[in-house]
Amino acid sequence: MTGKVLVAYGTTNGSTARIAEAIADVLGKEGFTSEALPAGSVARVTPYDAVVIGGGLYAGRWHKDARRFVRRHGHDLAARPVWLFSSGPLDASASERDIPPVPGVRKAMSRVDAKGHVTFGGCLEEGAKGWVARMIVRNGKGGDFRDFAQIEEWARRIAEELVAGEKG
Ligand SMILES: Cc1cc2nc3c(=O)[nH]c(=O)nc-3n(C[C@H](O)[C@H](O)[C@H](O)COP(=O)(O)O)c2cc1C
Repeated sequence: MTGKVLVAYGTTNGSTARIAEAIADVLGKEGFTSEALPAGSVARVTPYDAVVIGGGLYAGRWHKDARRFVRRHGHDLAARPVWLFSSGPLDASASERDIPPVPGVRKAMSRVDAKGHVTFGGCLEEGAKGWVARMIVRNGKGGDFRDFAQIEEWARRIAEELVAGEKG
């Protein structure tokens, strides 16, 4: 398959963007044409054969850009293979076990008939936006919990499923 895959992301502090780029890189290595773009900058999803959508978690909700993206493109997304991911937990939990989607993401999954979802560990470091973020970091509760081996493995599975789907 020489499919075109979009990895759209919603981020406040940039760490979800880096996850999206890692996923796009793996898909590129697996032979797909892939790009990671901020969800808000994507006008149409119709040029893509498959879409991955990721968002940081804030107060139990998916990032608003990811939510809007699903609302705006829901119809076209439902017509192609879609995977969702969340990034959030500021501890090792996401590397240790499956963390289910928050309710809003579960709704988004059913809306676009998503093929899968995963929660990756998050990242919050010095310079993050907002006083709550700065307080978390100041209290020593921040850090980088993104597991790039886990992220790349998930992206490889997407590539496999896309190839299998193509053979159909
Ligand atoms: C104000 C605030 C609220 C947060 N709420 C959650 C949450 O409800 N669940 C969670 O898993 N992580 C939560 N986090 C952690 C973020 O999801 C994590 O830092 C994530 O990597 C941010 O993504 P971004 O850098 O792409 O914006 C929160 C962080 C901040 C600063």
